[in-house]
Amino acid sequence: MPTLLHLDCSPRPESVSAQITAEFAAAWCAANPNGRHVHRNLARHPVRHVDAGHVETVARLETAGTRDLREARRAARTLAERRSWALSWKLIDALLEADVLLVGLPLYHFSTPSVFKAWLDRIAIPPLLVSPETGRGPLSGRRAVVATARGATYPLGADQLDDDFQEPYVRAAFRALGLADDLIFLNADLTKAGHVPWLAPLRDTARGSLQQAVESARAAARR
Ligand SMILES: Cc1cc2nc3c(=O)[nH]c(=O)nc-3n(C[C@H](O)[C@H](O)[C@H](O)COP(=O)(O)O)c2cc1C
Repeated sequence: MPTLLHLDCSPRPESVSAQITAEFAAAWCAANPNGRHVHRNLARHPVRHVDAGHVETVARLETAGTRDLREARRAARTLAERRSWALSWKLIDALLEADVLLVGLPLYHFSTPSVFKAWLDRIAIPPLLVSPETGRGPLSGRRAVVATARGATYPLGADQLDDDFQEPYVRAAFRALGLADDLIFLNADLTKAGHVPWLAPLRDTARGSLQQAVESARAAARR
């Protein structure tokens, strides 16, 4: 049974990134009637930040050079470590079970919302998920789809592309997870054009950008 792990990161009921992921999920479920759709909104149900229990357990893995997932799963020692590690492994297991990872990602201050980072910090435990020798791991070859919604910044001038710490960051992070083989971005730009007066002349461009992202989402889900 194929599994779609769908994570949204916007708290907004009118979220544009969630609109795109919803289109992908609906088309994916239609194309995979026996599939499992696991959905979590990280803004409404955030992941707890990593704490000493998680970080110290990771350090123990590093000292021992542990690469084996079964061994790593049992690496926590104290009660505080076990509690925190169990939380991290719930998230890691959900990712390992997924055939497709779908993320709805608003642009927040040049980068990702902190709720996404909190999730990433719990699951990205190098070199567990990618071997430094081969660059491969249990998630290699799986699909990842990232739907971004960006208020205003990027289409307004080429010089501002230097400020994009979102897509390059997510690409690097997903490489560290082994999720770079089949990674696509669906970007809806100028989402603030609808309500910000000085962006009003760009409303058609914004509508076109969203339409393009939605159509690409539907097509990608049926692939
Ligand atoms: C905390 C915060 C920071 C933001 N930072 C930026 C930014 O740096 N550049 C930008 O173009 N838009 C920025 N925006 C606008 C969002 O990218 C835009 O509203 C987007 O549509 C949010 O995604 P959503 O529609 O899925 O909620 C920011 C919005 C918020 C709430």
